[in-house]
Amino acid sequence: MSANHTTPLIEMADVTKSYRMAREKTTVLHQVSLRVNHGEFLAIVGPSGSGKSTLMNIIGCLDTPSEGSYKLEGLEVTGQSDNKLTEIRNKKIGFIFQGYHLLPRLTALENCELPLIYRGLSGKERKARAMEALERVGLGPRIAHRPNELSGGQQQRVAIARALATNPPLLLADEPTGALDSRTGMEVLGMMEGLNRAGQTIVLITHDMEVAQRASRSVIIRDGVLSEQERRGGDETDAGAQDGSHERVVQQA
Ligand SMILES: Nc1ncnc2c1ncn2[C@@H]1O[C@H](COP(=O)(O)OP(=O)(O)OP(=O)(O)O)[C@@H](O)[C@H]1O
Ligand SMILES: [Mg+2]
Repeated sequence: MSANHTTPLIEMADVTKSYRMAREKTTVLHQVSLRVNHGEFLAIVGPSGSGKSTLMNIIGCLDTPSEGSYKLEGLEVTGQSDNKLTEIRNKKIGFIFQGYHLLPRLTALENCELPLIYRGLSGKERKARAMEALERVGLGPRIAHRPNELSGGQQQRVAIARALATNPPLLLADEPTGALDSRTGMEVLGMMEGLNRAGQTIVLITHDMEVAQRASRSVIIRDGVLSEQERRGGDETDAGAQDGSHERVVQQA
């Protein structure tokens, strides 16, 4: 990837997110600090209601912190306007969702061209880039298929190709295997591992410990509090290890 590897891709410091409902203030994220370097494959794992989507929305620049600092490739996200957030998202993040979010009337190729439309590329260049992304996920032979002519696993691979088409520094996946049977889910995860080995930074959000195991590093979120535990690999950037209890939680799955 093109990025400057001395700056962390993600750097969050004491990020808090609160919602005000009627007269009550609910704090959903409590002073979350997180650093993700280029080239990592991180899983954020936690039970329902723990704050995963809230955190994903902030990482993905779909929402901003109430307090604290969030830098994406060194650029402060907190306090940016909606227009600026849209621009940051388009440049820096490829999204993958549980439900694929493909447009049903468009072919696989046309779906993958969509995020390139705002890039000022020629039609020919767009097609070439979309094609290349589909080939990376092994769907070269299926480019003319519409979503309903593809299996769930293939649809998710189109969605991954669409996320890759802009060559974003960050691939951000929210329960990417949630709609797939376990075997197909594992195949999709295997593909994401391959992309990571080729240099793609991935942040994957899941409630499923078995899915989280496939990442090279996991952080756990509970009641809006993030704790970090290195599991394998060895590039030590541990921020919150204490007694290994979180490690066991992950390994038990
Ligand atoms: N807009 C909002 N206003 C008020 N409270 C909110 C809002 N969005 C989320 N919450 C609360 O924040 C908490 C965390 O929600 P979040 O959606 O981040 O959880 P989650 O970990 O993604 O859960 P799930 O696994 O079920 O998707 C929940 O208690 C939820 O009710
Ligand atoms: Mg959620």
